[in-house]
Amino acid sequence: MTQTNQKHLLIVYHSQSGRNESLAYAAAAAARDADSGVDVRLLRAAEAGTRDLAWCDGVLLFFPENFGAIAGGMKDFLDRTFYPVINQQVYRPYSVFICSGNDGSNALRQFERIAKGCSWRCVSEPIITTGVPDTEVFEKAEELGAAFATGLIIGVF
Ligand SMILES: Cc1cc2nc3c(=O)[nH]c(=O)nc-3n(C[C@H](O)[C@H](O)[C@H](O)COP(=O)(O)O)c2cc1C
Repeated sequence: MTQTNQKHLLIVYHSQSGRNESLAYAAAAAARDADSGVDVRLLRAAEAGTRDLAWCDGVLLFFPENFGAIAGGMKDFLDRTFYPVINQQVYRPYSVFICSGNDGSNALRQFERIAKGCSWRCVSEPIITTGVPDTEVFEKAEELGAAFATGLIIGVF
C-alpha cells in the first residue's frame, strides 16, 4: 500500500566491470531497510531517463572515471536528460559516489559542473574510492543509501 508521505529515491549507476553496480545495489538495499516510507528505484544509466528524475525526490549516482572523465554511460544519461531537466525544472538533491581505478577527481569535477548546470543540490560530501571495493567501501555505500533515505523522510533536503 502506498503511504501518503512516501518519498521516492532514484539510484542511477553506470558500471562496466560491476564495482559501481554492486555498490549501488548495496546503497539501494540499505535505503529500503532504513525506511519503508522510501520507494527506491534502482536503474542502470542506460535505462534511466527524465521520467525517472521527475518521479524522484532525490537522486543518488554511482559511476567510475574512464579516461579521466565521467564514464560514457553516465555522461549519456546526463546528456539525454539535460534539456528536459532544465525545461521541466527537475531540480533535485543529489549525492554522488565514484568507484574508480586510481583517481576519480576529474570525473567528479565534470559531474559537479553538470549538476550545477541542472540546478541540482549536493546534499552530502562526494565519495571517491579507488580499486576493488572492500567491506569498508561497501559500508560507505550502505551508509549513504540509508542516510539519503532518512534525509528524504525527515525532509532535511
Ligand atoms: C576504458 C577505461 C578507462 C579508465 N580510466 C580511468 C581513469 O581515467 N581514472 C581512474 O581512476 N580509473 C580509470 N579506469 C578504471 C575504472 O574507473 C575502475 O576500474 C572502476 O572501478 C570500474 O568501475 P566498474 O566496475 O563499476 O565499471 C578506467 C577503466 C576503463 C575500462
